[in-house]
Amino acid sequence: MKIVCIGGGPAGLYFALLMKKLGPHHDITVVERNKPYDTFGWGVVFSDQTLDNMRQWDAETAAEVQQAFNHWDDIELHFKGRVIRSGGHGFVGIGRKKLLNILQARCEQLGVKLAFEQDADSDLDYPDADLIIASDGINSRVRNRLPEVFQPDIVTRPNRYIWLGTNRLYDAFTFLFEKTEHGWFQAHVYKFDEKTSTFIVECPEHVWLAHGLDKADQQQSIDFCEKLFASNLQGEKLMTNARHLRGSAWLNFQRVKCANWSHFNGNSHVVLMGDAVHTAHFAIGSGTKLALEDAIELVRQFKTLGDTADRIPQVLQKYQAVREIDVIRLQNAAWNAMEWFEVCGERYCDQLEPEQFMYSMLTRSQRISHENLRLRDKAWLEGYEAWFAGRTATPGARPPMFTPYTLRSVTLKNRVVVSPMAQYSAVDGRVGDYHLVHLGARAMGGAGLVMVEMTAPSADSRITHGCPGLWNDTHTADFKRITDWVHTQSDAKIGLQIGHAGPKGSTCRPWQGAGMDQPMAADDPEGNWPLLAASSQPYLPHGIVPQAMSRKDMDRVTADFVASTQRAAQAGFDWLELHCAHGYLLSSFISPLTNHRTDAYGGSLENRLRYPLEVFAAVRVAWPEHLPMSVRISAHDWVEGGITPADAVEIARAFKAAGADMIDCSSGQVSAKQKPTYGRMYQTPFADRIRQEAGIATIAVGAISEADHVNSILAAGRADLCAVARPHLANPAWTLTEAARIGFTDIAWPRAYVSGKSQLEAGFARERALQTATKGD
Ligand SMILES: Cc1cc2nc3c(=O)[nH]c(=O)nc-3n(C[C@H](O)[C@H](O)[C@H](O)COP(=O)(O)OP(=O)(O)OC[C@H]3O[C@@H](n4cnc5c(N)ncnc54)[C@H](O)[C@@H]3O)c2cc1C
Ligand SMILES: Cc1cc2nc3c(=O)[nH]c(=O)nc-3n(C[C@H](O)[C@H](O)[C@H](O)COP(=O)(O)O)c2cc1C
Repeated sequence: MKIVCIGGGPAGLYFALLMKKLGPHHDITVVERNKPYDTFGWGVVFSDQTLDNMRQWDAETAAEVQQAFNHWDDIELHFKGRVIRSGGHGFVGIGRKKLLNILQARCEQLGVKLAFEQDADSDLDYPDADLIIASDGINSRVRNRLPEVFQPDIVTRPNRYIWLGTNRLYDAFTFLFEKTEHGWFQAHVYKFDEKTSTFIVECPEHVWLAHGLDKADQQQSIDFCEKLFASNLQGEKLMTNARHLRGSAWLNFQRVKCANWSHFNGNSHVVLMGDAVHTAHFAIGSGTKLALEDAIELVRQFKTLGDTADRIPQVLQKYQAVREIDVIRLQNAAWNAMEWFEVCGERYCDQLEPEQFMYSMLTRSQRISHENLRLRDKAWLEGYEAWFAGRTATPGARPPMFTPYTLRSVTLKNRVVVSPMAQYSAVDGRVGDYHLVHLGARAMGGAGLVMVEMTAPSADSRITHGCPGLWNDTHTADFKRITDWVHTQSDAKIGLQIGHAGPKGSTCRPWQGAGMDQPMAADDPEGNWPLLAASSQPYLPHGIVPQAMSRKDMDRVTADFVASTQRAAQAGFDWLELHCAHGYLLSSFISPLTNHRTDAYGGSLENRLRYPLEVFAAVRVAWPEHLPMSVRISAHDWVEGGITPADAVEIARAFKAAGADMIDCSSGQVSAKQKPTYGRMYQTPFADRIRQEAGIATIAVGAISEADHVNSILAAGRADLCAVARPHLANPAWTLTEAARIGFTDIAWPRAYVSGKSQLEAGFARERALQTATKGD
């Protein structure tokens, strides 16, 4: 085959040499516009794992790289006068020039033609090539020539960065944070050869502009950074090798991804590789890794499917199918890490103490979890656990999940909440044996707080006929039976979620008809009822049209909430949550998708919050001062024009000002048009943002299904409590089970169940031992 690689970066060179090795008869040329030893940039970093991968494909290159690289294990943070270091992270740093020279030399050795100082205009320049590798970097001309074919999706990010070098040598991957009068700067620093370290300085656009760096030339920018990091640089200079860049040397990162990676141009098959097809932010240092692994995968496919010209279409198809998955995974992690650095100045630097800031930074990509950190550096993690526990006056190291949490006069024994879950099993609003068993079992299952499902302050505010209510003395007595049981038979606390269904009321139980939120038929023998909402808009197109609330309706509903709250106190609940989420009555006021009022209760967010805040204030007065109150909100409507996470911060601030202790951060269910992005812990970013920006405690909820999730969230300060719903349907003793799974034994079981404890713990211990042994094979 005749193969041309346009672009002699890591992708083009490494593919060329591996392909030549696979089939020495192939005629392979790498066309590069620069001179052989001419490149900008300093060091690049990749993981031990990438090097292992390279070793399997070309031991010679891997050995050369190994000779030249700098290996280090530690990450060090310099923040607010503190230096914190943790180990076990395993990185390899190498000069970009050195890496390219190794690849170039190996190409020549194997017989790849290297054509330097040739600027390729387009893939059409090489009509006799069977295959053209477009490894021409982030601004790929080949990709840009045919946007309709490759369908690139390019996002320019807001932060500014400058890639510098220094002769000050660092013995860890070092992160420096410095505050100026305009905001925070950070530097990502690592040594890559005996004399030099890479020194990337980054800051938000507004901080960069405020310092006039948009008008600064290269030297002025360097002078600025030297002054900013002077105490750390210890007299060493910062250097640039990108003097060819005109004007400011500060760049914006561009995230590139493409729907199609290859194409037939009429003469040759063309395939994108490396930065030309995808980029990953330097926050997790994986651009070079991706480029090298692309090259490996394409060669693997030629090896598997045959390295003849007729196999090219299948090879290219398989190459994209396989690589795409890994690339998306890595790009997601890189995106999280990048966002962390974009918001850290506003969200974390001033809010978190250095210990927690370090933890948050280490877990920024959300790929590294609590238990993963334990594997990397047990001593550091245990030190951190002890620090975290110490803040709750608990001696020794224990997973954050099992530290107590105190709000007003209530202390929860741990940080797990059984999230409120409608059971549709009440009769005339009355809870009975079903609820005693359901809630009782979960109270015995180890969670610190068990929340009762949404409970209605009046008969017409229920979701279904099966929903519980708290509007008469019988209801109070029924609930008292349950709270008494929980308080005498367990050390869990029990809370009530109070809420009015609003436009989502008078529906069938989910198992009765076509699923959730389906309106009852007009002739349903149980009988339906008229609905209230902020505006007369049904939740589903075929739903009952609610009546927009009048002031009189508002007064009546507020009075119902207050009476119900007084009953909740009489019934002995420890905690009250006001339901302002999921499109129910109070939520219907907050969201612009459901509130179209033109009076003082519609329009601006301030107006839309007015009634929910009135209800909150009235309820707070009725609820005993010494007991806590949380508010559940939908922090994202997942619909264009709806509530955004930025609005959610404002909503949280308003409830905080009204006296709320905590925000329970759910999302969605406000509009049937929602398009949520589900995934592990997918709503936790809202809890995190609200906690840091509104300065109020939060509950994270949503796809939190392992102790490892809970510990990672709490330890990073993303929330104060974690609510777990569906896993508690499968397993009432979810908390006790998870404790045993991670080997945490200092947890009380119900006294009659104790003989099950050591058995469960031994079973999990065996499982862990087996896993460790298998990993070692
Ligand atoms: C500040 C910064 C820090 C980074 N840090 C890291 C890191 O720590 N770890 C890491 O893995 N990655 C890092 N990267 C990313 C990394 O540099 C790239 O992801 C990697 O180099 C991609 O390799 P590539 O071969 O696809 O593209 P490139 O390395 O960009 O190579 C493309 C080559 O094509 C040539 N070329 C382009 N157009 C033409 C043309 N028309 N004709 C001929 N030649 C052409 C260019 O001159 C260049 O040599 C960083 C990037 C930046 C910007
Ligand atoms: C059966 C069921 C009933 C629910 N009922 C309520 C409810 O009454 N009030 C509420 O705020 N959320 C309710 N939710 C939402 C949960 O509290 C929780 O926010 C959601 O299920 C996400 O958590 P998970 O991923 O742990 O299940 C319910 C969820 C389920 C599965």
